[in-house]
Amino acid sequence: MTMTTSPTLLRADGITRSYHGAAVVKDVTLGIREGESVVILGPSGAGKSTMLRCLAGLEPVQTGEISFRGTRFAAAGEQPKPLRGEIGMVFQQFNLFPHMTALENVTLAPRRVRGIPAAQAEAEARDLLVKVGLAEKVDHYPFELSGGQQQRVAIARALAMRPAVMLFDEPTSALDPEFTREVLEVMRALAAEGMTIVVVTHEMGFARRSADRVVFMDAGQIIEEGPTEETFDRPRHARTQHFLAQILAH
Ligand SMILES: Nc1ncnc2c1ncn2[C@@H]1O[C@H](COP(=O)(O)OP(=O)(O)OP(=O)(O)O)[C@@H](O)[C@H]1O
Ligand SMILES: [Mg+2]
Repeated sequence: MTMTTSPTLLRADGITRSYHGAAVVKDVTLGIREGESVVILGPSGAGKSTMLRCLAGLEPVQTGEISFRGTRFAAAGEQPKPLRGEIGMVFQQFNLFPHMTALENVTLAPRRVRGIPAAQAEAEARDLLVKVGLAEKVDHYPFELSGGQQQRVAIARALAMRPAVMLFDEPTSALDPEFTREVLEVMRALAAEGMTIVVVTHEMGFARRSADRVVFMDAGQIIEEGPTEETFDRPRHARTQHFLAQILAH
């Protein structure tokens, strides 16, 4: 949770991302404030994943620019410059290294990228695995873990880089329903402790409980955004109303 006065951490200004000349993110402007918890909603194909990958610096943009703490790291016609761990990302598919234990998955990047000594990286990784509720699973391989446990290892792995902001792209949509709750709980706890998070999800309960702000995307554009309760209870645009009615009917 955050106050509206916190500084903007991550900001996209008029970004467009096209594939083969077709824009799938169109002139989008979005600022994420420090400590804020933002949920991005919208129908399939709206451009949510693409926008999140742009914000993470994983995709070039064809117009506009993206900055982190006021420093531009992506701009039209340039390859984004890597931020070395400031922005963490968690995907729908956990993408753990199958031949490494949970602990090894979490220590790898801090050791390789941040140059943290092995013993320290391991101590930090154990703390993070405790934090995501996996104290007993540190030496397990991904195939020995449930989907929900694997996703929590993936979250610990992203946190191990000590990012200032975490981006989640539908982190629970590949999970069986019984494992969804534990992953949502980890994200809720991160938001509650003041971590800046941006989450693409269809989990409306999570959005209502944990998001300070919701952003609706459709056809590559932000069609509406605002404080969570107000926006859910009184959506201004017909397309937002339609989307909410559809998702709540399920
Ligand atoms: N690498 C790519 N090459 C070509 N087209 C792409 C690529 N990635 C995404 N697209 C297209 O861009 C559009 C937006 O895709 P995106 O994955 O961002 O949507 P989304 O809102 O995340 O959808 P979903 O809810 O299904 O995950 C889609 O029409 C998709 O086919
Ligand atoms: Mg997507």
